Amino acid sequence: MIIEPRIRGFVCITAHPEGCAAKVQEEIDFCRSQQAPADGPRKVLVIGASTGYGLSSRIAAAFGHGADTLGVFFERPSAKGKPASAGWYNSVAVEKAAHQAGLYASSINGDAFSDEIKAETIERIKKDLGQVDLVVYSLASPRRTDPKTGETYRSVLKPIGQPYANQSLDTDKGEIIEVAMEPASQEEIDATVKVMGGEDWELWMDALSEAGVLAPEAKTVAYSYIGPELTWPIYTNGTIGMAKKDVERAAREITDKHGCQALVSINKALVTQASSAIPVVPLYISILFKLMKEKGTHEGCIEQMVRLFNDHLYSTAGPTLDDDGRIRLDDLEMQPDIQAAVAKIWPTVNTGNLNELTDFGGYQKDFLELFGFGLCGVDYTVDTAVDHPLPSAEG
Ligand code: NAI
Repeated sequence: MIIEPRIRGFVCITAHPEGCAAKVQEEIDFCRSQQAPADGPRKVLVIGASTGYGLSSRIAAAFGHGADTLGVFFERPSAKGKPASAGWYNSVAVEKAAHQAGLYASSINGDAFSDEIKAETIERIKKDLGQVDLVVYSLASPRRTDPKTGETYRSVLKPIGQPYANQSLDTDKGEIIEVAMEPASQEEIDATVKVMGGEDWELWMDALSEAGVLAPEAKTVAYSYIGPELTWPIYTNGTIGMAKKDVERAAREITDKHGCQALVSINKALVTQASSAIPVVPLYISILFKLMKEKGTHEGCIEQMVRLFNDHLYSTAGPTLDDDGRIRLDDLEMQPDIQAAVAKIWPTVNTGNLNELTDFGGYQKDFLELFGFGLCGVDYTVDTAVDHPLPSAEG
């Protein structure tokens, strides 16, 4: 069938298999062009491995360091002739390329918050890898069912303590809009911490450790964000920020409990399926991208992850940490001249000057590429098969 983008608000409900494969290949090529430190990861578990930062972590480990990778994700395979989700096609492409390169790569598709998927992952590690020496935790989810109680929690993106209003970007229509949000209730704050906080990361590390599948020198890393003051009411000081504080608490717990280095990396704001759902952030990203591209400091997920692996996790000097013990991959985003320029542009943006003052075009391009659309060298006018099984599942 001919697959075209069908955008509904901040998601695209179709994905293009060859386009996703082309995007994955671009990231693989970038990794191969970079000089990696001699001592890198060998056997890597990536939880949330199919899109965004988790996908790029997996690619950086496999194609930058020659690591064997096991990816866990929650994606939709093709059914009834309809395309699979982008993360499914991405994972098919990663596995294929890894196998061609002689690397082990397999995947588990299911709810990473559940005990069943943790048990299946441990069995797979025992059978195929023995132990893992790096665990990347890169889940972004709107809901989580607690495996102990069966209760389902839903995360919200809301300010805390007082209402918040600001301008935002309707990315579908390309219009500046006003958004107003009421503060979260305590129940909503707690639910967001349950979903996006560190509890599940701890449960994973407990389970892996108890099963004896963590290598003695194992490291683990989870991702977080801080960003500029203008997004703090909705991000850092909002419900999601509380969850991210809990991720930092979990890092300390994991390090104390399992003696493995548990790190939090503060990453750059980038266009992913998760970030496009956060009010205000797409407008900030559009302004930020214009300024960082002009300055020559712009990076995408793969550049960020290669820098994480090469300059921090596996650098001979070890990771460079801030005063709170975190890796700061957002260093270039947070440079004072960049942030001062964002703050100057912010109040002057309107629908009429959006394309002049921001890189909304770049935002839209990145958004479509998340779903495999707009990639160079892909002929979108020819029929394409939608059903692509995961190579590792074919035996
Ligand atoms: P994403 O939406 O691209 O990826 C989320 C991943 O989680 C996918 O692989 C998806 O399949 C998986 N997933 C979701 N629910 C699952 C479930 N129940 N079971 C198994 N897998 C599940 O998100 P993105 O943006 O890459 O976020 C990853 C992490 O990076 C998050 O912690 C996020 O807060 C953080 N981060 C993101 C930034 C951004 O600008 N996108 C900036 C800094 C940090």
